[in-house]
Amino acid sequence: MLAVAHLTKSFASGRDSSTTNVVAVNDVSLTAEAGEFVTLLGPSGCGKTTTLRCIAGLELPRFGEIVVDGTTVFSSRTRTNVAPHKRGLGMVFQSYGIWPHMNVFENAGFPLTIAPRKSRLTRQQRTARVEQALAIVQLDHLSGRAATALSGGQQQRLALARALVMEPPLLLLDEPLSNLDARLRDNMRSELARLQRELNITTIYVTHDQTEALAMSDTIAVMNKGSIEQLGTPREIYENPSTPFVADFIGGSNFMSGTVESAAGDMYTVATSAGPVHGRAHEPLPPGSRVTVAIRPEHVRVVPSGRDEAGGHDAGWTGQVRVCEYLGNAVEIEVDVEGLVLRSRSETMQFLAPGSPATVMLTPDKCLIYAQDPRGVAAIDGPEVQLAV
Ligand SMILES: Nc1ncnc2c1ncn2[C@@H]1O[C@H](COP(=O)(O)OP(=O)(O)OP(=O)(O)O)[C@@H](O)[C@H]1O
Ligand SMILES: [Mg+2]
Repeated sequence: MLAVAHLTKSFASGRDSSTTNVVAVNDVSLTAEAGEFVTLLGPSGCGKTTTLRCIAGLELPRFGEIVVDGTTVFSSRTRTNVAPHKRGLGMVFQSYGIWPHMNVFENAGFPLTIAPRKSRLTRQQRTARVEQALAIVQLDHLSGRAATALSGGQQQRLALARALVMEPPLLLLDEPLSNLDARLRDNMRSELARLQRELNITTIYVTHDQTEALAMSDTIAVMNKGSIEQLGTPREIYENPSTPFVADFIGGSNFMSGTVESAAGDMYTVATSAGPVHGRAHEPLPPGSRVTVAIRPEHVRVVPSGRDEAGGHDAGWTGQVRVCEYLGNAVEIEVDVEGLVLRSRSETMQFLAPGSPATVMLTPDKCLIYAQDPRGVAAIDGPEVQLAV
């Protein structure tokens, strides 16, 4: 349904625009099958919106190819660039352009009134579609209200309804739930996911919210500095992050530097400042190589010193509790082990007083080991490719 290959987009920056280019999207490739829900997830400024705007035709990429439903809508090779309104997409953007002179109902139904005459619905069909879309975003009770008299979150929901009325084959959503309170966001998240599956709308969804991404997506593309760091199912991304960045951005992790001591299959023993650690690596690592060990807080166990509960864990390290925080459904404890601070999260609701001695245990098969080879993103210099539109 959608194939993006080697998409690259840079923006001129600085006063002398001919010399410096900021690479916003760097060689991004991804595909979405019909009905698939693909999420671009990453921190602010990583290139999510720019990728979406390139797919929509609102930015001119520097390189790459974009194919929507079998039609090439952009290609730097063949100099193709199809106008946005001819790409057959529905979109909601971060800044939602609501028509101020129309009421809620008219705003939501607007795309249906400008559809080509031969595909236009009857008035009754249009009304039914608009009512359904407004019900999904929980604005049906406000359909007669002036759009300017809506709160920010309500305007955002109206923008979403306006994209949904078209039931487009490809829907592009840029943080469509970011302005809503937690409860409404949860509600709309499940409603949107349900509708997307029911209507089989291929969706490219942008968010920096990992819960949203994990809950809604078939596939997640984790972006960092303009590139895709990992592409996979929510489970793959969470349980098998392929880089320390992914391990940290999704779910959070503790990190330790160390040196590989020995290997047995894909299990390694790594020497760290706090002591030896056992863990798994994705790639072969020679003894002596510098590595980063990542472990999630829920796989770090902290017990009061003196209590012997090491079953299933590595032998414990001794440390001192720095912070113990109550989070409602869990307790987070930070322990200092020889200057290394490790964070633990547990639902056992056991409290340890700051300053008290504690034993720290790591679940061995949950430690992930990565070679240390910092990857930089080089700026691409030179003028942008100009295309005839
Ligand atoms: N029109 C522009 N001119 C110059 N630089 C731009 C422009 N649009 C985006 N950028 C830069 O490109 C990079 C990617 O921006 P983009 O808006 O795609 O990020 P994002 O992942 O959507 O971030 P956020 O989560 O904050 O919305 C940023 O460094 C941004 O400053
Ligand atoms: Mg953005």
